Amino acid sequence: MVPTLYWDNDVVMILDQRKLPAKTTFIACRDMQRVIYCIQTLAVRGAPAIGVAAAMGLVLAGRSIRVKDPAKWRDRFSAKAEIMRAARPTAVNLGWAVDRILALVAVAPDEVETILAMMRTESEIMLAEDIAVNKAMGKHGARLVPKKATIITHCNAGSLATCGYGTALGVVRAAHEAGKKVKVIADETRPLLQGARLTAWEMVQEGIPVAVAPDGASGALMDKGLVDLCITGADRVAANGDAANKIGTFNLALQARRHGIPFYIAAPLSTIDLDTPSGDLIPIEERDAEEVLKFATCRSAAAGSEALNLAFDVTPNDLVSAIITEAGVLKPPYNRSLARAKAKAGLKVT
Ligand code: MRU
Repeated sequence: MVPTLYWDNDVVMILDQRKLPAKTTFIACRDMQRVIYCIQTLAVRGAPAIGVAAAMGLVLAGRSIRVKDPAKWRDRFSAKAEIMRAARPTAVNLGWAVDRILALVAVAPDEVETILAMMRTESEIMLAEDIAVNKAMGKHGARLVPKKATIITHCNAGSLATCGYGTALGVVRAAHEAGKKVKVIADETRPLLQGARLTAWEMVQEGIPVAVAPDGASGALMDKGLVDLCITGADRVAANGDAANKIGTFNLALQARRHGIPFYIAAPLSTIDLDTPSGDLIPIEERDAEEVLKFATCRSAAAGSEALNLAFDVTPNDLVSAIITEAGVLKPPYNRSLARAKAKAGLKVT
């Protein structure tokens, strides 16, 4: 797979996903602002990938602070970290990554060069960990996939949304690698077509059969018996299991319930936010109206019309059959299973 992001000496290289599948080009980021630009314009997107991009961007931010006094450096660095945290609101992995770097900075020795070196190493560890976590998630999730199955997914929760392998598509990959006959239906995912452009591209490269369907087709496809299960990713899972993901995921989950089809979410523990009790408290990003009013670069909506461009929706926990994590497949009641899995992994429980 083409890497989503990587270090090239002291430069952060980010695959420009806006250009896919037509072109494979990278954006060279030499400062934090450039990384934020990539996050906000969706050159890099997907919750886990955004988190690691943020960690790398903070290394660039740290290097740009030209003071030697560690206390002053830490003050300026904290201010920059808050700018990074605000780059996109819904994916909790962004704040999770910022907090992880800030925690490291707080306990690091009082020497700026040492702190910078430790941050760089930490960002590399986070990248490698993300791939390992996705593979573990894939193994657990593959057990839920029948020997022959058509899986519908929404947006792109694949290699491109992570540092490699993917969450929802990681489960698909693991099932495929285990010899199961899997087919994928990729919701096209209006308005930015992450399904049609990115999920379909990944699956074609992997040799996994894939069909792109309009977002509104899921009910009809399920009605015709063409779907066995749904697997999507998530940008933030609240403590009670309510899950924010790309707009349209809630509709898919409702259709799945109507048709008696399992609806799974695959998300790493870093996407589970125990500090947010329920989905109504998850901040939902609203993006530029132009994304909806135009199709690619051409205006497609009637002149004079406005747009509603909520980038994410929240699927209530009662529609989620299980949450696939690196710690195993978590079942309702989620308040208990999510807290237990995070505690076991040594992560913060509130
Ligand atoms: O706006 P995007 O493309 O960043 O939205 C991404 C999604 O909704 C993904 O499904 C989610 O981040 C999970 S990625 C493993």
